[in-house]
Amino acid sequence: MAAVPSSTTTRTAHGAVPHVEVRTPRRPLHPLLPSDKPIIVTIDGPAGTGKSSVARLLARRLGLDFLDTGAMYRAAAVVAIERGLGVDRAAELVAAVVDADLHFDWSADPPDILASGRSVSSRIRGGDVTAVVSPIAGIPALRRHMVRKQRLIAAQHPRLVTEGRDQGSVVFPAAPVKFYLDAAPATRARRRADQLREAGLDADADALLADITERDRSDSTRREGPLIKPGDAIVVDTTSLSLEGVVGTLERLVLERMARA
Ligand code: DC
Repeated sequence: MAAVPSSTTTRTAHGAVPHVEVRTPRRPLHPLLPSDKPIIVTIDGPAGTGKSSVARLLARRLGLDFLDTGAMYRAAAVVAIERGLGVDRAAELVAAVVDADLHFDWSADPPDILASGRSVSSRIRGGDVTAVVSPIAGIPALRRHMVRKQRLIAAQHPRLVTEGRDQGSVVFPAAPVKFYLDAAPATRARRRADQLREAGLDADADALLADITERDRSDSTRREGPLIKPGDAIVVDTTSLSLEGVVGTLERLVLERMARA
């Protein structure tokens, strides 16, 4: 079936671009989920826990939309690199990101992320982006901008699995189901290496472990929106679980929680 474009477009400095709510016909909602209320499922945790794959597959199984907030921070880093702006020029960097009008094309699965009306999805996993994204994600004004955008997206996509670092703690504190995924650092580094190799990119597991450890430190110690375990999150250690095992566990827990909500 063809995508059903909404009537709205956003006009920016770069012309009219398809707005966030270009929709494909939604996959049917899971029959055990209520069709008359919003459902936000948050998945937070450090890099390499399998969050993105888990969130995408979980959303597919439950008939929910999927929001990858790391992709938003990565797209901001792409804008910063292309404009030659570092964290030492934070105000200009944030203005450039606001001007780039980051948004998703929801007709793709997973949704395609655009900056200045151009897809950057194939660019955001590059090593140069990964190297600078964490300090950029620590800029308080940038985080506030992203939090606003993420809440707007949730208003337009009220049945959502959203993954990141601060989704359950800051962005959607009232979400009815929150998960925190964790795994041993060496396992996380190995998973990232496999992911990069699958994408045809170079991967050195030792360098990735050092990078993951440094990003954990940086993401957990920043002042605004640090990576924390929300007190009411269900913690799942994925070290010895398969992807299918994690997705199945989370699916069961969401259905149990929503039956009681
Ligand atoms: O999950 P990821 O590796 O794609 O995230 C990229 C970076 O963005 C990572 O350094 C953490 C940061 N991030 C964040 O600070 N807050 C989020 N909600 C999502 C990602």
